[in-house]
Amino acid sequence: MGYEELEIIKEECRNCHKCGLCKTRTNTVFSGGVPNDKLMLIGEAPGFYEDKQGEPFVGKAGQLLDKILGCVGLSRKEHIYICNTIKCRPPENRDPLPEEKAACRAFLDKQIEILKPRIILLCGRVAVNSMMETNQGITKLRGKWFEGPYFSKMMPIFHPSYLLRNDSREKGSPKWLMWQDIKEIKRVYDQLCK
Ligand code: URA
Repeated sequence: MGYEELEIIKEECRNCHKCGLCKTRTNTVFSGGVPNDKLMLIGEAPGFYEDKQGEPFVGKAGQLLDKILGCVGLSRKEHIYICNTIKCRPPENRDPLPEEKAACRAFLDKQIEILKPRIILLCGRVAVNSMMETNQGITKLRGKWFEGPYFSKMMPIFHPSYLLRNDSREKGSPKWLMWQDIKEIKRVYDQLCK
């Protein structure tokens, strides 16, 4: 499909100097996976390895994300477009500042506008706060569908780095909840493919 415009925006992003993070970045991290109109995941911000490689979710959290997607037959090579709320790594992986998020917002909005994905996964608190007006925490919101931009369905999910800190797989644990969520996401994804 005609996603050439994404390449233009990616190049704009590569040359962006709208906030202070341009001074400390090694690479901008625009997107990973495949451009498609079904499934997008929005994470938080690039970390150490993402900054080095210019690719989102390539560190430990990314490896776990790939594993979770793989459990239901989804892969970044074939099925999902991955991006972050901001495209440059905040020093020491601190939370992005409001002015950094604001400066970067147009890139995310463009990605959504061009792809118009039917499903948007909001991975972690920072992504949820960027895309939804709510005071509720991720634990309350995860696993539920919300109406997103361009009539998409949005679901908040736990961030894989949170799962890495919570090892239990018992019923009700974060990993168990993620398993329920990814099955539900795959169910809706499969409906779209019919
Ligand atoms: N965590 C994120 O939220 N995004 C990345 O790209 C890597 C780690």
